Amino acid sequence: MSTQAVPRKSINVKTFMKMKQAGEKFASLTAYDYCTAHVVSSAGVEVILVGDSLGMVIQGHDSSLPVTVEDVAYHMGCVKRGNQGAFLMVDLPFMSYYSDLKTLENSAILMREGAQMVKLEGGAWLADSTRLLVQHGIPVCAHMGLTPQSVNHLGGYRVQGRDPQKAKEMVEEALVLQDAGASILLLECVPTELGRAITEKLEIPVIGIGAGPHTDGQIMVLHDMLGLYPGKPAKFVKNFLAGNSEGVQGAIIEYVKAVKAGTFPAPEHCYT
Ligand code: KIV
Repeated sequence: MSTQAVPRKSINVKTFMKMKQAGEKFASLTAYDYCTAHVVSSAGVEVILVGDSLGMVIQGHDSSLPVTVEDVAYHMGCVKRGNQGAFLMVDLPFMSYYSDLKTLENSAILMREGAQMVKLEGGAWLADSTRLLVQHGIPVCAHMGLTPQSVNHLGGYRVQGRDPQKAKEMVEEALVLQDAGASILLLECVPTELGRAITEKLEIPVIGIGAGPHTDGQIMVLHDMLGLYPGKPAKFVKNFLAGNSEGVQGAIIEYVKAVKAGTFPAPEHCYT
C-alpha cells in the first residue's frame, strides 16, 4: 500500500457541492489537536470536524453533554494551527444554541478560533437558527438521524428512521433544512436505503456515519478508526490501523482511498 498523500486543491464551502455534482466522494475525520489535525489533513482528508465527541474520546465522559463552548473553542484553535488545507467544521455543543443570541455569540467564538462551518444537531426545528447563521455569514452543517446530544431523549445510541413514517419525516425535515440554507447535511446511524433516499433528494452534499455507502461523503471519529477508544466499537466503525504496516498516516490514507473508491463502508458496517 502506498502512503503517498493524496494531492489536494484548495477547499471551501462550495467544493463539496461541486464534488457531489461530479459524483466524487469526500472523506472527513474528527481531530482535536495540532498533531492529529496535521496528520489527518496531510493524508488528504477534505473535512476535519472538531466534534463534541471530544467529551468521550478526549475527556473520558460517557456522552458529549458535558462539553462546553470553551472546550470546543480550545480544541478548534489547536486544530486550526495544525491544519494543512482541510475544511474546518466545528460542533456547537449541547445547549449552546438554545436562543438566537446564544447561537450567534457561540458560533462567533468558534469561527474566531478558525472554524469555517458550524454543525447543529436536530431537525426542522433548527430551520430558523440555520437561516439566522447563514444571514450572518456562517455556513451550517445540519446533523440528523442519531443526534448524540439527545441521547437521553432517544433512549440510547440507536439506529434512527427504521419506521417508514419516521423515515419519510426525516426526508421532509432534511429538505426544510436545505431550504433554510444548510450547506451540508450530516446523517448518523440510519438504514442504508434512507441514507440513499436523502442523498438523492437533496441538492446539498450529505456526509454519512453509519448511513450506508451512498452518501456523498463519509465521516468517522479518529479514535474509532485507529482502534483507540476502549470498549466494543459501533457496527459502522472500521479499524484502519489494524494490520496496516504504515502506521497512523498510512491508516488515514487507506481510509481516504476507501471512501473515494466507495469500498468503505462495506455491507458489514451498514444498517438495513
Ligand atoms: O462529534 C462528533 O464527532 C460527531 C460525529 C458525527 C463524527 O458529530
